[in-house]
Amino acid sequence: MSEQLLGSCGPGRLYVRTLGCQMNEYDSLQVLRQFAALGYTPVEDIARADVIFLNTCSVRGKAEQKVHSFLGSLRRLKQANPNLKIIAGGCVAQQSGKKLLDRFDHLDMVVGTSAVNRIGKLFQNLLDSGTRGAFVHEEASFAGFDFELKTAHGSITAPLTIMRGCDNHCAYCIVPSVRGPEKSRRPGEILEEIGLLERSGVKEVLLLGQNVNSYGRGLEETISFADLLRRIVSETGLSRIRFTTSHPKDLTEALMLCFAELGPLCKFLHLPVQAGSDRVLARMNRGYTAEAYLEKVARLRRTCPEIALSSDVIVGFPGETEQDFRKTMELIEEVRFDNLFSFCYSDRPNTRASGFADKVDPETASARLFELQGRQAEITLGKNLAEVGSIREVLVEGPSKASNGQMSGRTSQNKIVNFEAPVSSTGKILEVRIDFAYSHSLGGEAISAGGEKGR
Ligand code: SAH
Ligand code: SF4
Ligand code: F3S
Repeated sequence: MSEQLLGSCGPGRLYVRTLGCQMNEYDSLQVLRQFAALGYTPVEDIARADVIFLNTCSVRGKAEQKVHSFLGSLRRLKQANPNLKIIAGGCVAQQSGKKLLDRFDHLDMVVGTSAVNRIGKLFQNLLDSGTRGAFVHEEASFAGFDFELKTAHGSITAPLTIMRGCDNHCAYCIVPSVRGPEKSRRPGEILEEIGLLERSGVKEVLLLGQNVNSYGRGLEETISFADLLRRIVSETGLSRIRFTTSHPKDLTEALMLCFAELGPLCKFLHLPVQAGSDRVLARMNRGYTAEAYLEKVARLRRTCPEIALSSDVIVGFPGETEQDFRKTMELIEEVRFDNLFSFCYSDRPNTRASGFADKVDPETASARLFELQGRQAEITLGKNLAEVGSIREVLVEGPSKASNGQMSGRTSQNKIVNFEAPVSSTGKILEVRIDFAYSHSLGGEAISAGGEKGR
């Protein structure tokens, strides 16, 4: 959302910085919406802000350190402007609560992931009482979420959280403790929010949850994630639907069929595997073997041959031997993911793995990560090169970041394509011939005027 879109007559300017995953992106939209209701307008220059909201991530130690150093750097701004209000939200806020207030005395408020749905009220109380506070103890809920759009959403694609929390307890993961138990959002409310987004020009929605495949548990009406996708396709006019993240153990045949049968559902699946060794997978508490994972991938590719896949991998999990790591390398060789996000294991508080004694030394873990990323870069480039000569439908998202006058969009398979087209093509699906492949994007030429829908 840009400053211009909201006008500039409110009582103040709000600067939002979002770290972490797309679920935080959605929560930041919540914050913008609730502050817009109080009359605040977003500002891109932090030095001009009256309120700073930092949405934080705590998934790895490095992410948390980044939050601490960013918060530390804000002290200077507060000294220059004592009326400035600084709020920490997100997963570090949820994890650390009052400890953050104690550590950073220039911080005014800590709003955990469980309280972000009430941030407007909490901020109003802060202004009225002038008392600093940490709010982390509520149960995560969608109650009070503000999804009315005070203005146009302002982009072609929008995130939309359909469930919060996670019940999986992977041994390394802090998410269940900072996001709470899994809770699905009512389908009626999801459809209503999509309707509002569509009316403001959104063409593509990214459905979000830590494990969307288990969507529906605990709701009054019986509905699976595959059912929800079918309802969205039949009851909305979206050009495209994407979703993330899927847990392999809950990837059903019904969901696989959706890729083959639902036109607007993008042919792309992020399916985190984490490791290729069964011993490591079991210690991670992932609930599947490498063979079961490969079998699901094969079935998915039979059901929808054009599907592209990405994944997450952790190297250096406690007890990971050289042999275990070779199994991960074999798995990525066999699957040939289009894209892979890989990380060195990081000890997180209150997780089972943090108590495992057999930690891998950091040099070995880094060397493994380096090897894995090197090989994956070759595979990704190979996959991109294989696109050259093909014609792909691209949803035009706007001018390319390279500011070279080109437009940018994505294929259904989630590959970024840059090409010459008029700015007026934004929001349309164009047929683009792919002429060039790079490590992170493709280049091409538009060969059609383009329609509105990918159905
Ligand atoms: N819900 C998603 C992932 C959420 S966290 C899922 O189940 O796949 C995103 C990724 O961060 C994870 O897939 C994992 O690869 C990585 N990750 C999580 N905890 C980690 C840790 N302690 N150390 C290193 N990487 C971690
Ligand atoms: Fe973390 Fe596992 Fe839940 Fe993903 S499924 S958020 S990795 S506990
Ligand atoms: Fe990070 Fe929280 Fe997302 S820990 S990955 S911002 S759920």
